[in-house]
Amino acid sequence: MLPARAQFPDGFLFGAATSAYQIEGHGQGGAGRTHWDDFAETPGNVVRAETGAKACDHYTRWPADLDLIAGANLDAYRFSASWARVLPDGRGAPNMEGLDFYDRLVDGMVERGLKPALTLYHWELPSALADLGGWRNRDIAGWFADYAEVLLARIGDRLWSVVPINEPWCVGWLSHFLGAHAPGVRDIRATARAMHHVLLAHGRAIQAMRAMDQPNLGAVCNLEWADPADASPEAAAATARYDAIYNRWFVDAIFRGEYPALALEGLGPHMPAGWQDDMVVIGTPVDWCGLNYYTRKLVAPDPGPWPHYAEVEGPLPKTQMGWEIYPEGLEKFLLRTQAEHARGLPIYITENGMAEAGPPQAQGTVEDPARIDYISRHLAAVQRAIAAGANVQGYFCWSLLDNYEWSFGYEKRFGLVHVDFDSLKRTPKSSYHALARALARND
Ligand code: FCB
Repeated sequence: MLPARAQFPDGFLFGAATSAYQIEGHGQGGAGRTHWDDFAETPGNVVRAETGAKACDHYTRWPADLDLIAGANLDAYRFSASWARVLPDGRGAPNMEGLDFYDRLVDGMVERGLKPALTLYHWELPSALADLGGWRNRDIAGWFADYAEVLLARIGDRLWSVVPINEPWCVGWLSHFLGAHAPGVRDIRATARAMHHVLLAHGRAIQAMRAMDQPNLGAVCNLEWADPADASPEAAAATARYDAIYNRWFVDAIFRGEYPALALEGLGPHMPAGWQDDMVVIGTPVDWCGLNYYTRKLVAPDPGPWPHYAEVEGPLPKTQMGWEIYPEGLEKFLLRTQAEHARGLPIYITENGMAEAGPPQAQGTVEDPARIDYISRHLAAVQRAIAAGANVQGYFCWSLLDNYEWSFGYEKRFGLVHVDFDSLKRTPKSSYHALARALARND
């Protein structure tokens, strides 16, 4: 059973989140090619080599999708813009059709009383910039700030908030060390550069937006609680290294202007020269801190090269992604973030949710009881953290719609709303209806 709106502090925001490449249908509207198209068309990277060319066709169906958000009694919509839809080559001439699209979309949110929460980059780098080295190239920070200016000059006046980059860990580590996301690189030098440049781009965009008087600027990082796989000192050390790379590198840089020593042990020798001089730009103050939280990991030592750790399968119940369900990790992160990073700034949970397979039933309903349970338990963790003093001001479900789940193609279903990827028909799931009931205003 989901807790009712009245069980949260006054003004607490509830929202749903999506991202451009995962729902829009990138093949339409004059958008430029992205490195996700290139990655997906390379054999072995994505289930069935699926791309975001059609996705949920949100590009044409957006009015009905915004109606769904409003119909769930949500207050805010966290969406992203595609850099290559705005600037097909990443720089230079804008695609007016793309700017018109985001303009209409934001108007549509405002008309429905939804607060528009924009993310500028949720991973679809224009291929033309990938050709120039993408996140390895320091110049990307300037290109990104220029893109922010072009888009915000058009839609900035109606936005509730703006975040430069979704989950910089995924841009840096997942995409350049683990090679699991575009551009699929596995190289420590590329990783160090990407992990630094993504933060420099964040800082430069924040500065550009401040100069435009754009209000309510935030940062969104993904965190995974790390527990040692056993009681040995080696497992504890491996877990601390994992925590430094995953859960501290980005928030330490943005909120404290420093990198954790345990991560610099391995990345330091590969960092671009003079990186220390960028820490002031990277630490440019923001107005709030966003956390994306899904799961925890068990970590064991590994004899291989740095970072000398391996993930071990844990015993807890798992989602369709194989991710353990561990709401306590969210509570611990909210308290840690409050104490060590946000330090009084508002904290938002900008993504939380689970993948659960569930086909529509004959009577046209989709039952997803595990999702209702997952959201309930995580909201209870939020309530505990608030009671313990964390300044949490909102919660966004990932995701509104079943969508393109990156290297998993269309196989993993995170939506409150089921999407049939042949007919593109939307069917709200039982979790959607439960949320709408819990969030109904009685005034
Ligand atoms: C997050 C991403 C989002 C989606 C969810 C499941 O890391 O921000 O696009 O893939 O995970």
